[in-house]
Amino acid sequence: MAYFVSPQIIFGEEALEELSKIEGKHALIVTDKFMVKFGYVKRVQELLQMESTVFDEVEPDPSYETVMKGVEIISKIQSDIIIGLGGGSPMDVAKTIRILYEKPDLAIEDIAPMVEVEIKKTKLILIPTTSGTGAEVTTAIVLTRKDEERKAPTANFAAMADIAIIDPSLAKNMPPALTANTGMDALCHSIDGYISTLKNDFSDGLCIKAAEMIFEYLPRAYQNREDKEAREKMHIAASIAGLGFGNSQAGLSHGMGHSLGAVFHLPHGKACGISLPYSLQYLDREPEVMTLLAKFAYHLGIQKETEEESVKELVEKIFDLMTAIDIPHFLKAEISPEDFKSKLEKLVENAIFDGTIVFLRRTPDTEELKKLFEYAYEGKEIDF
Ligand SMILES: [Fe+2]
Repeated sequence: MAYFVSPQIIFGEEALEELSKIEGKHALIVTDKFMVKFGYVKRVQELLQMESTVFDEVEPDPSYETVMKGVEIISKIQSDIIIGLGGGSPMDVAKTIRILYEKPDLAIEDIAPMVEVEIKKTKLILIPTTSGTGAEVTTAIVLTRKDEERKAPTANFAAMADIAIIDPSLAKNMPPALTANTGMDALCHSIDGYISTLKNDFSDGLCIKAAEMIFEYLPRAYQNREDKEAREKMHIAASIAGLGFGNSQAGLSHGMGHSLGAVFHLPHGKACGISLPYSLQYLDREPEVMTLLAKFAYHLGIQKETEEESVKELVEKIFDLMTAIDIPHFLKAEISPEDFKSKLEKLVENAIFDGTIVFLRRTPDTEELKKLFEYAYEGKEIDF
């Protein structure tokens, strides 16, 4: 038995206008300063047919402290609508604020997939302005424990939005680097989700469709900001990938990526993206993964004599995509040798405790994780 979970999804041009039909008394808009600066918050406020309060203090890799500030505000103003507007960070903070407001006796570090949270007071609406995290359609939450230099991913059914509004016009101002990083995040979701032990027939279709769209449209969206079709398709592909991995699980690219993000402050999508090919080269030594990846490759038009050759070609295809969108093939391009060496132990320690490592078909131990980071640093093909 399993659940397939999804919010109601409103997508396409002018989807944002649907906000004017939402009924409620008072909205808390959880966002960041850029969304205010670009006028997106104003646009949302103008559409909403109710009073609203803006909490715009969400930072990249948001902390527990930021969430608690938001909880304090909502407890005072008693909003019945919570809107998460922005990239993954504001949406994850909005999700957590909702959980802690609905269940005030729950401590933030105790939020977990099996904790029951009854929703009585709020409706959650998530509106992505980047095309990658998929946070608008998942129960996943990633916060950062600044004191421990690590990310703390978790999930809960109460983090699922009631409504996700996927309006491509909100992503049109993304600079190329953000398009590349977030697009790689979506690709990681689609592949991680397809090979997870929690994969299922529903998630499979979504993961394949998302990857197909990402390979086709991400280079176009990156190379030409004016390519409206590519931007629109990427905005939708990111949510499809979100539904895919959200109903399966993220995997090793994310276990490594979370750690790299927390320790070196690499953008999430870039950190996971650089880890992806190495994670696949490691996982494909497990025959089940090899077969799954060969099937995945087949759906992307790759058909070779053997599974090994197909998967090799798939990894090449990922490297080619990275080249096309200027994502480096190895960590050396981003991190100095001294920094890498001094933090390697921390990188491994974080990754080994990352929740995404649990659902792999081949699980690395400490020694293997260390080698995975070292190989990804140097750009060496995995041979263990
Ligand atoms: Fe991700």
